[in-house]
Amino acid sequence: MPLMTTRPMFDLAYDGGFAVGAFNVNNMEITQGIVEACAAEKSPLILQISKGARKYANMRYLKHIIDAAVEDHPDLPIAIHLDHGDTIDLVKACLTDGFTSVMIDGSHHPYEENVRLTAEVVKTAHPAGVLVEAELGILGGIEEHVVGLKAEEYEKNVEKFLTDPSQAADFWKRTGVDSLAIAIGTSHGAYKFKHEAKLAMGRIEQTMKTCPGLPLVMHGSSSVPREFIDLINKYGGNMPNAMGVPEDQIHAAVTKYGVCKVNIDTDLRLALTAKIREVFATKPAEFDPRNYLGPGREAIIGMVRRKLHMLNSAGKAEAVIQQWQKLGKPLPIFYAKAGRV
Ligand code: G3H
Ligand code: 13P
Ligand code: ZN
Repeated sequence: MPLMTTRPMFDLAYDGGFAVGAFNVNNMEITQGIVEACAAEKSPLILQISKGARKYANMRYLKHIIDAAVEDHPDLPIAIHLDHGDTIDLVKACLTDGFTSVMIDGSHHPYEENVRLTAEVVKTAHPAGVLVEAELGILGGIEEHVVGLKAEEYEKNVEKFLTDPSQAADFWKRTGVDSLAIAIGTSHGAYKFKHEAKLAMGRIEQTMKTCPGLPLVMHGSSSVPREFIDLINKYGGNMPNAMGVPEDQIHAAVTKYGVCKVNIDTDLRLALTAKIREVFATKPAEFDPRNYLGPGREAIIGMVRRKLHMLNSAGKAEAVIQQWQKLGKPLPIFYAKAGRV
């Protein structure tokens, strides 16, 4: 039952030339698509759940879907992670639900408040054996709106919002966080850039130096592949100017600079939407949900397999399981308390 924390994954990814894909789940088809792809590629994976996903699907349903996935794939290293947690109460709910990892995102707060909130989450999660990811710097896409910036204003002044490597060292020391999401020019959603993206690889390099041993995380890492946007637009969609992070830059951030976790949500949404639109447009008489959600799930499998190669995590499952066994199979205490072992 290799449901685990991210510790054995990051131990190997840190200097192993690969990153673990963290994919957002919102329903059964998406979860199955991700897990099937990782099983086919023998890749470790992180299933991540946002506050919005908890609300949409009802956490009770998601929990059982994920448990079924874990049960169905006893040889797959899986971590369950809260994506963009914003309060202590939400973190506590996730601990009770048996998450093995949580993110507290205090990046939109003033620095001192981010430190205080993150340190409090670490104090709450660590006794339960749960690891904590935090964030420093401001990403584009969604986060710039939170701090009241317009997209153009953000893009023009992006340098100002990127993670400061020396502040990252201070943040790590004062919070005891287990991994850190950094702002290096990526952005959430399907409309990331007006011009070709160029990630600030130097920030990764410098933060690896100021924070040796701290696993770094990239959010906003969907590539928004042109062929999926074209399919969506061909079959009645309207997504002009969608643009993502080029896959070769993500590959370099992972294999050359050492990023350990890469978050992908938008590309799964695009794959599912493109396929469903195609079925609706080409088979207008179709009304059985299995006949459009099924192809949608297949499209997610294809998309995730492509990502696992980009992240170089295909084939790494066995090594992660061995590392997990070496560490003494640490599982959060709350997972056991939640009655899910
Ligand atoms: O970074 C955000 C993730 O894509 C989750 O999005 O809050 O719409 O579930 P959501
Ligand atoms: P994308 O919107 O680029 O897929 O990013 C997802 C993400 O960062 C989830 O936390
Ligand atoms: Zn994110």
